[in-house]
Amino acid sequence: MDGNGRWAASRHLPRLAGHREGARAVRRTIEAAIDQGIGWLTLYAFSSENWRRPQAEVTDLTGLLRQYIRSELAELAEAGVRLRIIGETARFPADIRADLRAAEARTAGNTRLNLTIALSYGARAELAAAARALARDVRAGTRDPETIDEAALARQLFTAGMPDPDLLIRTSGERRLSNFLLWQCAYAEFVFQDVLWPDYDAARLAEALAEFAGRERRFGARPG
Ligand code: IPE
Ligand code: MG
Repeated sequence: MDGNGRWAASRHLPRLAGHREGARAVRRTIEAAIDQGIGWLTLYAFSSENWRRPQAEVTDLTGLLRQYIRSELAELAEAGVRLRIIGETARFPADIRADLRAAEARTAGNTRLNLTIALSYGARAELAAAARALARDVRAGTRDPETIDEAALARQLFTAGMPDPDLLIRTSGERRLSNFLLWQCAYAEFVFQDVLWPDYDAARLAEALAEFAGRERRFGARPG
């Protein structure tokens, strides 16, 4: 979800206004995803690298996150959304961590939309942590290195048990992955849209889905 700052700047507003509008776009997009029958939606809300932004902006984003969970949880739960958080959430204040855990627990029985929010997420850190966990098992004598295959590594990731993304959408005209789900996106289709995130809506999602539907996916196999 990219372009909040540029959206605000183009209106001579503070960046926080862009992030606020971005939160409204999150709400619209979740509704649109449900309407489209999408089963899994993962939103990259805050990267490991975003901690390096000016302290005031980090505080604004943390505040918005706290507000978002408190104001949206009941409705998400009601709509049949199951919430999961991926990322190094230990870096957030204790009250937010508690709210996130409670939200995951409250929605654990829902099946309509699996909504994952990536918070303080970085794929390289995730992969390094997986390697450490496997190495610890080997050192403890509970794992034979020869059993470390793709499935064993995938089980150590935040996304263990989740399907790999079919489609990755990046907004605001940037054409980068920015350390998002590097392992999981091995065969994802990428769609880049120029729209700034605060302007994202059902029509933009439908456009991305239409582009995805036109792609031929071979997963490395010979054209059939
Ligand atoms: C995305 O918008 C929101 C977060 C990364 C939290 P940006 O803040 O990156 O907006 P731009 O890229 O400056 O326009
Ligand atoms: Mg950006």
